[in-house]
Amino acid sequence: MPKFLLSVSLLAPFFLQAADFSGTWQAEQSTPMGQAPRTQISTYIFKTAGESFTGTFVSVVNGVQDQVQAIANGRIDGNAVTFDVLAWDHRGAGRAYKGELKDGDLVLSLANPPQAGRGRGNFGPITLKKVSAVTEFTMPPELKHDPLPAFKPIPSNGLAQTPPMGWNSWNKFNARIDDKTMREIADAIVASGMRDAGYVYLTIDDTWEGKRDPRGVLQPNEKFPDMKALADYMHSKGLKLGIYSGPGLRTCQRLEASYGHENIDAKTWAAWGIDYLKYDWCVSNGVYQPEEMPGAYQKMALALRASGRSIIFSLCQYGWLDVGEWGAAAGGNLWRTTGDISDNWNSMSHIGFDLQTGREKVAGPGHWNDPDMMEIGNGGMSTTEYKTHMSLWAMLAAPLIAGHDVRSMNDTIRSILTNKEVIAIDQDKAGRQGFRVRQDGDLEIWEKPLSDGVAVALFNRGGEGARMSVEWSEVGVTRPNPKVHDVWSHQDIDAPAGYSVDVPWHGTVLLTVK
Ligand code: GAL
Repeated sequence: MPKFLLSVSLLAPFFLQAADFSGTWQAEQSTPMGQAPRTQISTYIFKTAGESFTGTFVSVVNGVQDQVQAIANGRIDGNAVTFDVLAWDHRGAGRAYKGELKDGDLVLSLANPPQAGRGRGNFGPITLKKVSAVTEFTMPPELKHDPLPAFKPIPSNGLAQTPPMGWNSWNKFNARIDDKTMREIADAIVASGMRDAGYVYLTIDDTWEGKRDPRGVLQPNEKFPDMKALADYMHSKGLKLGIYSGPGLRTCQRLEASYGHENIDAKTWAAWGIDYLKYDWCVSNGVYQPEEMPGAYQKMALALRASGRSIIFSLCQYGWLDVGEWGAAAGGNLWRTTGDISDNWNSMSHIGFDLQTGREKVAGPGHWNDPDMMEIGNGGMSTTEYKTHMSLWAMLAAPLIAGHDVRSMNDTIRSILTNKEVIAIDQDKAGRQGFRVRQDGDLEIWEKPLSDGVAVALFNRGGEGARMSVEWSEVGVTRPNPKVHDVWSHQDIDAPAGYSVDVPWHGTVLLTVK
């Protein structure tokens, strides 16, 4: 054979054979997470049919299975593959992947990488090795559980007749929260007037969890030496203490969660004096199917009720599976409606303006939509933008859960968070969530029915100041000459039939019309 032909055939690309591709592929990555190392084994199980394939993606973090998701739309084309990992509930967008076979390894990356920044979904190329010919996923036997009891609506626990108000450690402190900081925040909440303005539920978010003792009682870790003493401290200050867990085996920071220990955990928290529970789905996908989600939440709601203590139940599952339709029936007092907020205008405004539409019909006394904790005071937005954040959350009848370092807040932030008139709009006893009445590009008029009138917000989401106008008839006010009050400038306004005003960019004019 002439020499050049041999070299050509050696250099010819290796074309992926469907039969070689079928099977189980794996990669292991180690990344720091909080204080703990995080070792993730990503397994992709592919089952080919000709040039197409389906499959299952399984992720195991620090030895615990935390995601099981279907793979669909797989295509093999020469050395390249493309496929989608579907959202766990099969409703969300899912993620598209592309892979290439190189020297027998599969080098995988996201087909549409997200923009850099905070949040889930960062994914560099990873190299997978084929580890077996297995083409079907089977649930590990230790994760199989008896069916949850049938879901049946439970009556309200009577709590949270107005949207809960308080503070939560996550947005500012993440894993760096401890007993000492909680006490200092409590002191600052009292000294700043925030407690008297209504912010009473102080919640320790993720990373308080230690190990279970031999009786299965979950112990706090070394950051929280005595939870009962901490709750007593809160109560002595006229405050309440909240805590965090989840229905799965692990929390979002991959610490011990409540799966299989719902009753014992609820009793433990009641004995400590806990008043509020945030219950985060996060990696419960590893043990539960989508249709089990309402039942998994109800299981904890019933455990809390059986604990003998009044505990507000906050669902955190990012609005999946139309939670507003079943959150209250599952025993929830509030439920998150979206993924995590971050401290910037785009995140806050998208969550607040765009993702709450239509949800007002399911909110009311005892059961609230939760557009996530506030970022006011964390530094990523201007004063004007934080006022819009506060105004929007009040219009939404949202839980007002602050999330900044109260110890070092300045007077501007304090005055935004403690504006009594804005808080009164949020806390109005009619419990009606506000909604958009009109949208002209970046300019939005919202109304929130109040027990004695209506709150009206003129929001300017655009990049320049704008003149905005509203007629009272648009917001359901028919009586002539209503009493109009601007709750940020604390001025009464003479505006018999409507109002025109300059609204700064990203700014808000917030009125009550009575
Ligand atoms: C997320 C949750 C956040 C925070 C975090 C803690 O799932 O949405 O609010 O609780 O987990 O790990």
